Amino acid sequence: MRLLETGALLLASAASAAVVTPRASCALPSTYRWNSTGALANPKSGWVSLKDFTHVTYNGQHLVYGSFHDTGSTWGGMNFGLFNDWSNMASASQNKMNPGTVAPTIFYFAPKNIWVLAYQWGPTTFSYLTSSNPSSVSGWSSPQALFSGTISGASAIDQTVIGDSSNMYLFFAGDNGKIYRASMPIGNFPGNFGTASTVVMSDSTNNLFEAVQVYTVQGQNKYLMIVEAIGANGRYFRSFTATSLSGSWTPQATSESQPFAGKANSGATWTNDISHGDLIRSNPDQTMTIDPCNLQFLYQGRATNSGGTYDLLPYRPGLLTLQH
Ligand SMILES: *[C@@H]1O[C@H](CO)[C@@H](O)[C@H](O)[C@H]1NC(C)=O
Repeated sequence: MRLLETGALLLASAASAAVVTPRASCALPSTYRWNSTGALANPKSGWVSLKDFTHVTYNGQHLVYGSFHDTGSTWGGMNFGLFNDWSNMASASQNKMNPGTVAPTIFYFAPKNIWVLAYQWGPTTFSYLTSSNPSSVSGWSSPQALFSGTISGASAIDQTVIGDSSNMYLFFAGDNGKIYRASMPIGNFPGNFGTASTVVMSDSTNNLFEAVQVYTVQGQNKYLMIVEAIGANGRYFRSFTATSLSGSWTPQATSESQPFAGKANSGATWTNDISHGDLIRSNPDQTMTIDPCNLQFLYQGRATNSGGTYDLLPYRPGLLTLQH
């Protein structure tokens, strides 16, 4: 034992005498290839679907919020009780949010030491709640205005929020082929982004449909945007990169045959759709940081033989893992 420990110490001091290298970072691949779990959980009694996931690691456990649709005509918001391993998601409790926080985005706002849950279909176009106990559905504040603007000819949908060192940004979609952005100084957050927004991308409705997410790529001075598209073979994600959150976006993996994530490269057999979800972040804070060395995507899928009314489609969570 002693000899081994001494050897290890010698090795360690030899290593630290050498050039101090930062933790290795990985570039985003130019071609994505994933594997997939099956459906990780079924909705509880009275609900037909679990959707629109947002995930952080909290106290070393998985904390997931999402939307549900009930057997009638109601959309709502929910969370899963904390769980340790994806194999335990199926047995985690499913807890209804009040108010109904549809298509939520959760993150820790580090400058003010507070958790934020942003969502759609609240009192304003986008609204938010705050909490210091984010795993409890009953620990949230009353709704506050996040964005009170509107867009021409469409309804704003599927917000996400991300910050750099000086500003907070709101990105959202419109089911209309456009991606929108609003911003505010980070010192004003949490607060209302106001009424003004800018179109940052424009394409066909199918190519830029909804479920936009924006992330800081760890160690790369780069941001990644993914947007859900409607394909010939189901829903899939297209990706874009930028060097500034206030800048323009460059297409990265944008075809249905070589997408960011879709039927063509997901490895999933239970679902054709790779739809609204969240990349697993390496930091729960407002930087929305992802580690491309360990990329996973919590998404919503549905059985390949399912169909019918959109609102009642049987979406379930699944998890993709990037293959290197
Ligand atoms: C996916 O690949 C990872 C390795 O990258 C492996 O650890 C994991 O078990 C695989 N998962 C599935 C569901 O095949």
